[in-house]
Amino acid sequence: MEDKYRPIGLMDSGLGGLSVLKEALKLLPNEDFIYYGDTKNAPYGTKDMKEVKELTKRVVNLLIDKGVKAVVIACNTATSVAVDEIRKEYSIPIIGIEPALKPAVKINRKGCIIIMATTLTLAEKKFKNLMEKYSEKSKIVSLPCPGLVEFVESGNIDGVEVRDYLNEKLEPFKTEGIGSIVLGCTHYPFVRNAIKDIVGEEVPIIDGSIGTSKQLKRQLQSKGMLNDKKEKGELKIFNSLEDSKVIDLSYRLINEKI
Ligand code: DGL
Repeated sequence: MEDKYRPIGLMDSGLGGLSVLKEALKLLPNEDFIYYGDTKNAPYGTKDMKEVKELTKRVVNLLIDKGVKAVVIACNTATSVAVDEIRKEYSIPIIGIEPALKPAVKINRKGCIIIMATTLTLAEKKFKNLMEKYSEKSKIVSLPCPGLVEFVESGNIDGVEVRDYLNEKLEPFKTEGIGSIVLGCTHYPFVRNAIKDIVGEEVPIIDGSIGTSKQLKRQLQSKGMLNDKKEKGELKIFNSLEDSKVIDLSYRLINEKI
């Protein structure tokens, strides 16, 4: 089969990468996609670097065995620890995601920029470099959110427990003023509405899903690998849990208004 007719693979520690898939499906409707969520091993963000690297490589290999033409590591945590090494090992395009700090700095709204992400992402060198680049221009606050991924994995994106959790995290910043919020974990866009209710409609909440999807399109385009078929692409979802409930929840999240 010609490369361009092969599917695109997307992976995450679980269901978070579906927020990226949602945008990729809009931007590339004629492509076939294979999504793999590693829910059995989620969360990645509280594990150590070595383990996350191994888990990520295992999933990337699984996708490559399924014949994908490119892989999107739709997980900030996995990207921060494993993308450089994986790119060296494979010749197909490997697209990663990182906290969308640049657009937040560009908006330049009064108040601090809060970056919500996993503990591991915020501790990694990649993020430290990003911080160094922008911290002169704006006041940037790192806000690790252990436990938030688990709410999304259980399908609780709007319940009182998740709202209480977010309130506790964000309330302390309201007095000094929040300029914008960067969602540096692909699970978090699913709780965007709950965050909005806490910080107010006017605070921009930025995530990297559109930027990553555009990057995927650019890479495929530059290699002549965009699928030129006219009909709508196919989507297949796999999960390490091998439980039909998690597949049903995946489809529910893709159709969620976020
Ligand atoms: N969705 C992930 C991210 O973007 C990983 C979350 C986790 O498993 O801890 O960082």
